[in-house]
Amino acid sequence: MSTHWIEKDKKQLHPVYHPNTHANPLVIERGEGVWLYTVDGQKILDGMAGLWNINVGYGREELAKAAYDQMKDLAFTSNFSGMTNLPSIQLADKLAGFAYEGLNTTFFASGGSEANDSAFKTARYYWKRMGKPSKYKVIARKGSYHGVTLAATFATGLEKYHTMFGPAIDGFVHIPAPNPYRYEGPLKEGESIGAAAARMLEEAILREGPDTVAAFIAEPVMGVGGVIIPPDDYFPLVRAMCDKYEILLIADEVITGFGRTGEWFALKHWNIKPDILSFAKAITSGYAQLGGIQISDSIRATMENAPDSDAYMHGYTYSGHAAACAVGLKNLEMMEKENYPRRAKELGQRLLAGLQTLNEFSFVGDVRGLGLVCGVEIVADKESKTPDPAMTMKIFKAAQERGLRTRPLGNVLAFSPPLSINEEEVDEIVKRLGAAMDGVA
Ligand SMILES: Cc1ncc(COP(=O)(O)O)c(C=O)c1O
Repeated sequence: MSTHWIEKDKKQLHPVYHPNTHANPLVIERGEGVWLYTVDGQKILDGMAGLWNINVGYGREELAKAAYDQMKDLAFTSNFSGMTNLPSIQLADKLAGFAYEGLNTTFFASGGSEANDSAFKTARYYWKRMGKPSKYKVIARKGSYHGVTLAATFATGLEKYHTMFGPAIDGFVHIPAPNPYRYEGPLKEGESIGAAAARMLEEAILREGPDTVAAFIAEPVMGVGGVIIPPDDYFPLVRAMCDKYEILLIADEVITGFGRTGEWFALKHWNIKPDILSFAKAITSGYAQLGGIQISDSIRATMENAPDSDAYMHGYTYSGHAAACAVGLKNLEMMEKENYPRRAKELGQRLLAGLQTLNEFSFVGDVRGLGLVCGVEIVADKESKTPDPAMTMKIFKAAQERGLRTRPLGNVLAFSPPLSINEEEVDEIVKRLGAAMDGVA
């Protein structure tokens, strides 16, 4: 059955495509809860919630109905200046101050890359309006992932995303990330990793010149870069530095937003807030394409008092898409009703504790997690900590044979299941991964 579809699938160019990695894709027909079913009848526990986004799980009638009801009335209309629609009004109203106090304005896009592009352009816009047009650079971190538009590609700190698409566009600078397991930046005696990594930000700002830097962008928990959870002192120091040098802090919460880490938004863990917030993915639990940014009241103010010549000439056909916003509203209502951040926190602790039992394998170097996003780092041996991507791929494949979907990110296996997962299903992830590791050990 699947071979027929795989042959036809060759007409489609898939994301991050290489023929070797796409030779034998799973052909998925339907999903229910945390489970996916292939056309061949294989049942797979989706330990990744799609791509970190299916928070409420697969097959939720309520969301299908929200889309159906809205599409019948009005699927789409222009949301460009001079027109608006009810679902986008209601969702922007719901989101005002929802993530962070003082972020009361939402600009809608269709996904995370568009959200980050919008964030960069908005930062530039803001500084021009503030009379500081030389502030245009963005500082990002090595290992970060911010998407694939041209700007997001070069904001991303993973070189493999750059290789075939250079030359790099001007104005993106990368500094080491605060990786507690393998920090690669310089460390002064007695300095914590969080403080050292924050110092890298200050040094980069001074090196580039504070008058040239518009923004610093960071994922609160790095996702694609290997599920990196920063030390507690890092983000408060980063916030202070951004304030000191007048640099906007962009939180890329495309993965961490909407409950995944155990808080609605992840910078809450460290009690700080960004100037711009990028969101996408779980705003609709993946049931419709929606993303966007939220901006601080002071950024918004620069738009309100702008002359005609300084209009914010940015917007997508699908900014404020009526059906997508209706799905987003319903999804938020469901996540609030079922208190998803609390579920993520409690079940995340269970998942992390379970995964930590796998530390007994010599190739498990580190197990980490915050809420329902976890990473298991695979190494040649615990002492050398040498990354072992080949072993990681073997475990990934062995897990898939046992009906568990994880995601290999270099030498890290990522877990980010639907937040609707239950205790037995959490235990099933650990059991199947353990069996896969036994199989390859
Ligand atoms: C942190 C982060 N930012 C941005 C993106 C890009 O989002 P999209 O693929 O919706 O464009 C992703 C996608 O995984 C992401 O993880």
